[in-house]
Parts: sequence; structure tokens; C-alpha cells
Amino acid sequence: MSPDAAQSDSEMKAIKRILDFEPKAEDFAGAVIAGLSSDPKSIPPKFFYDQRGSDIFNRICETEEYYVTRTEVALLAEIGPEVGQLAGAGVSVIEYGCGSSDKIRALLDALSSPAEYWAIDISRAHLLQSAGEIGLDYPDLSVNAVCADFTGGLELPEEMAGRRLAFFPGSTIGNQTPGEAEAFLTGVRGMVGDAGALLIGVDLIKDTDRLNRAYNDAAGHTADFNINLLCRMQVELGAELDLDGFRHRAFFNAEKSRIEMHLLSSRAQTIRVAGREFKFAEGETIHTENSYKYDIPGFAGLAGRAGFDVTKSWTDAEQLFAIHFLDAAPGAGG
Ligand code: AVI
Repeated sequence: MSPDAAQSDSEMKAIKRILDFEPKAEDFAGAVIAGLSSDPKSIPPKFFYDQRGSDIFNRICETEEYYVTRTEVALLAEIGPEVGQLAGAGVSVIEYGCGSSDKIRALLDALSSPAEYWAIDISRAHLLQSAGEIGLDYPDLSVNAVCADFTGGLELPEEMAGRRLAFFPGSTIGNQTPGEAEAFLTGVRGMVGDAGALLIGVDLIKDTDRLNRAYNDAAGHTADFNINLLCRMQVELGAELDLDGFRHRAFFNAEKSRIEMHLLSSRAQTIRVAGREFKFAEGETIHTENSYKYDIPGFAGLAGRAGFDVTKSWTDAEQLFAIHFLDAAPGAGG
């Protein structure tokens, strides 16, 4: 069954426009070979999210240790009325990566008569399902779906009702390097225009122990998420490797203000992938993810370089997570 066939007719009808920029299938084999040939070895984190990886990520979000998702959802509900005031009535909401439906619903419920919703996601099946469900539940909203890899920048229609409010929750910005994050935010600034705004969730720098626990949950879901990359290599690329030869390693690098995730080789070994051999020394790692953490002034600086002013920042009572309302700085951006 094609992904679209899994969509109900009523969900499809609830989507006004579908823009398909046909994001190219990512070349997992090419990225693995390039990453394992480099020194130090690495694999980009975008390859975590096959169906199994996305399911494991949802399980991580439910662990006691990974405070990120539940803290952001609760904070969004709490600040809803203020966000509604700052955004104003009749806005068009553009969501980068339609992730948790709890978050977009909390935002839409807080806004006064939002006019349009533009959901952007690289996964067509996930996009159509999420957008279709929103369309059914918010019949007065014009719901649109854009299938695209938004990290490469994208063109949305010139015509959009009201003010543009971009929405980028989840601290996904933290998985980009600060340079990539600045370039991405500059693109968002250009897209929302001089009257636009961005509501963004960003994980805060905090006690190292708390951070380390969040990426080393006791049930082992984060370890499974990381090791799933090796499983993908076995299944999709016919890799010859022993899963027991690698361990999950995640730690906060305070100097770089980021959690680093690695797959650590527990012994000297050689693995084979796509006809190539890769040697590992004992203790050598494959760097699989960075998750940058920002304090409020640090994030304000980054946003400022991208052409945004921070109008308001909120944190939860434990100062674990921040949500920032950014307005386009006059004269900045495209
Ligand atoms: C999606 N992203 C914001 C998560 C994070 O916290 O960096 C991905 C993740 N990796 C391990 N646990 C969660």
C-alpha cells in the first residue's frame, strides 16, 4: 500500500494545498561510507529517523529522564494566552517539521482565529497524516502540506493571509551546529518577512548530571536509538558487524555546550559495509549526534545575528527548557 493509500479520504480532503518539492531519498550508503572514511568517524543524525528510529524516539520522549518533550508541552499550555496576544489575530502558522500533534494543537488553541496552517515535513506519509488530522479538527483553518527538506531552505507562496508566525519546537535547532542554526534562522527570517515572528523551543544549559541522564535513560531507549543506526547498516547495506562490539555513549561537552552521542567500539575490530572494510581501535567512536544547549543570552545572540529580536522568553519553574517569541528585527533579513 502506498503511503497515500493509508490516508483516509476525509483527511486528504481536509488539506487545501499539497506542495511536493520531492525531497530526494537520502543516500544512506554514501553517507555511511563517507562518514566511516573520515577521521574522526561520524554519521549524520538525520539517519536516526527511519520508522523504527522514529518509534524509539517517541519512547525516549516518554522516559522520566528525557524532560524535553513534556516540559515544552506543559510550558506551551501555560504561556498560550501570552503567545496569542503577541502573535495577534488571523496569523498564518508555518511549522517546520510537523512533530508532536500536542504542540501544534496547543499553539493553534492559543491563537485568535488563525487563518492558515502550513505543515512542512520531509516524510510525505507523516506529513499528510498530521496535516489531515489537523484539517479535520480545525475546520475553519486553511491547512496546507509542504513535503520538503526545510534545512536546505524553501520557497513558500507569496500570498499568505495575515502575519506569518513560524513554529519550530522540540529544540531541534540544537541538532544543528551554531553556524547551521544561524543560516537556518536567517532563512526563516526571510520567509516570515518584516512583519513576521518565530516561536521556538530551545533546551537550556543545566546541571551536567541532569543532561547526562536525559541521554542515558535507564530503560536503554536512547541506547537503542543510537544502535539502530548499526541495525540499519546491517539491514539496508548488508553490513557485516557485531552489534555487541559497540556501545552507546552520550555525555555533555561543557566547553562546546552540547550533548555528544557516539557509538563506541568496545574492542579492536574491522567491519565491512558495501564491500569496504573499516578498522576500529578499541575505544574509537562513531560520532552520531550533537545536541547543543543554549542559555537565554546565548540564544538571543544567535537569533539577533539571524535578524530576529527576542520579544519574550519563558522557562519552566525548574529552568530546564525555554520557549522564545522572536519578532523580525526591522530592516534585517530578505
Ligand atoms: C530531536 N532532538 C531535539 C533530540 C535531542 O534531544 O537532541 C534527539 C535526541 N537524541 C537523543 N535523544 C533525543
